[in-house]
Amino acid sequence: MPVSHAPRRRLLRLIGRAATLWPLAVVAQTPPLKPTPAVTVGPFYPPDPMGLPFFRAQALDPLPKGYDLMSGRDGRRAEGEPIRIGGRILDTAGRPVAGATVEIWQVDARGHYAVEVGADRDPGFAGYGVDRSDAEGRYAFVTLRPRGYARYGGLIRRAAHIHIRVAGAGRPPLASEIWFADEPGNERDSFVGRIEDPVLRERMLVRLTRGDDGLWQGVFDVVLPNA
Ligand SMILES: [Fe+2]
Repeated sequence: MPVSHAPRRRLLRLIGRAATLWPLAVVAQTPPLKPTPAVTVGPFYPPDPMGLPFFRAQALDPLPKGYDLMSGRDGRRAEGEPIRIGGRILDTAGRPVAGATVEIWQVDARGHYAVEVGADRDPGFAGYGVDRSDAEGRYAFVTLRPRGYARYGGLIRRAAHIHIRVAGAGRPPLASEIWFADEPGNERDSFVGRIEDPVLRERMLVRLTRGDDGLWQGVFDVVLPNA
């Protein structure tokens, strides 16, 4: 299904910029690039929440198609601090991958995913968004700066993260996570702490800086494995 560009135009008006949504700096990388590690898609992926009826009943229908997750139902704006996250979809030779479908999903400011049953969710947060990489492999979202969460009575404790899934462009889908530098809990996190390679840690732990328009922003490049 084609992705509408209307949300991007609305977002540009919202930000008040005539320039591109993608003012982020390109991070220099020397090929061959190490592929982005896969991380489980988990139970809260809105298009397929584990296939369980319990979750499926709450799956978003229709799924929002926007780049701006801070805009929720009935035109409401989300609670919490907006950030811009974007980057490039690359192959291991460092070439841009155009036309890839890029999805993200994450908890709202109250710590709940969009598909969680009975949760006191923020109705102003879309919880899920999709973009398509352009000819230079670029994608971008405006979303909420996430926080960590606990589940199952504290048995699972996650540092702040955004789930990301890249598919299409003739390649198998890759699910991973966007992490944040200087985040409490990173080293205790079972996924973040597992990545020891310094090059991958530098790429996967986003450093947020203040953009010209006042939004916090960070770069997250995705390197797809060779097909
Ligand atoms: Fe998660």
